[in-house]
Amino acid sequence: MAARKKPWAGRFEQDTAKSVERFTCSLHYDSRLYRYDIEGSIAHATMLADSGIIARKEAAAIVRGLKSILLDMEKGGVVFDQADEDIHMAVEKELIRRIGDAGGKLHTARSRNDQIALDVRLFLRAEIRTITGLLVALQKQLVKMAASEIKSIMPGYTHMQKAQPVLLSHYFLAFVEMFVRDEQRFADCGKRLNILPLGSAALAGTGLPIDRSRTAKLLNFPGVSANSMDTVADRDYIAEFIFASSLTMMHLSRFCEDLVLWSSDEFGFAEISDAYTTGSSIMPQKKNPDIAELIRGKTARVYGDLISILTLLKGLPMTYNRDLQEDKEPLFDAVDTVRNCLAIFTEMLAHTTFNSGRMREAAGGGFSTATDVAEYLVQQGVPFRRAHEIVGRIVAYCVKSKKTFADLELKDYQKFHAGFKDDIIVRIKLENSVNARRHRGGTAASAVKERIREFEKRFGKK
Ligand code: ARG
Repeated sequence: MAARKKPWAGRFEQDTAKSVERFTCSLHYDSRLYRYDIEGSIAHATMLADSGIIARKEAAAIVRGLKSILLDMEKGGVVFDQADEDIHMAVEKELIRRIGDAGGKLHTARSRNDQIALDVRLFLRAEIRTITGLLVALQKQLVKMAASEIKSIMPGYTHMQKAQPVLLSHYFLAFVEMFVRDEQRFADCGKRLNILPLGSAALAGTGLPIDRSRTAKLLNFPGVSANSMDTVADRDYIAEFIFASSLTMMHLSRFCEDLVLWSSDEFGFAEISDAYTTGSSIMPQKKNPDIAELIRGKTARVYGDLISILTLLKGLPMTYNRDLQEDKEPLFDAVDTVRNCLAIFTEMLAHTTFNSGRMREAAGGGFSTATDVAEYLVQQGVPFRRAHEIVGRIVAYCVKSKKTFADLELKDYQKFHAGFKDDIIVRIKLENSVNARRHRGGTAASAVKERIREFEKRFGKK
């Protein structure tokens, strides 16, 4: 008789080597799934009794036993034996220890292959709810900031060169659009993973008269998976989830990059409060945007998690292979990273102020309203290409004579084209440039306010 009796001991003449137990064990990380493992087992045992596969009394004992393990786990009271390999075997062994032989009936018509697929789906269903909440909180914060900064004008950039003046609110709402898409991607992933894998057993299903729709109902799944081989081999939902996480991280990272630039002395557009920055151990004057930098850095690890899972799945023969145990660490890492980053980023934003004076000054410099001058000529009937060239010459003249548009008088403009009237002087004021772009999607205050209203309605604000 083996000292540490394994469920498969019947076929084996030797005990598993200690080194093998250590090598194959996943308990130190998959025990994180215990709640879902127990929830799934309770539903499975209930279905087994409802289908007449095990006795009602046995199912009742199993459910009681599982609930007591759950309770003790929540209190931090159960210490599993690392020789148990994974959370499924650990819970089952503890159940048998507590209730005796009836516990041995729980694994009827089930394999760890469909069990792990269930646990992860249940886990992700809950995590997607949490992440959605965090994404909504971030969107709300940004919409609030967009409403309060509706008068702030900043220089918009392309190629990191000053391009055209835009509202700071328009910038904030650009990120709301990204986070809305992120939310949709997580929801979509959640919809696809929301089917019951249990019943697929090892890979072929079971010869016992199970009722999968009963288990699905007990676990709140709207449907059951359609192919047992696909079900135990499938990890698409993990790849999809980490991809959705990667895009969210990328969006955060781009925002962070701007915040890092904007908090530099050179820009001076933003100031993150002391409580959300750190200092230097050597340079007394420093105040560093470390949160933003770390989020930018942590984006790399989530991308790494995505590459891990994609590489893990590539070329894997059908159906279940033990390689798949390696899916959990990248998944957990992505979940934790995206959750932590979303939470701290939203908090940091709420403690960041924007220097609208400085932004406005920067927006006015250069020739950020050159396109407005060209559009002015277009409205006088000048073909755009020709208008572009005329304004290019005006800019070249200004550069040569060290002037800006603000220094030009009507007669200066008229030297370049007779179509200029005195309203050109007001047309190129920052507010007018911004507010001219009043179509849907434009940066005019009217268009931005309309989008703010749409978001506020969605968030249930009057
Ligand atoms: N710990 C395993 C995993 O995470 C559970 C499934 C094990 N199945 C097996 N036949 N060894 O993938």
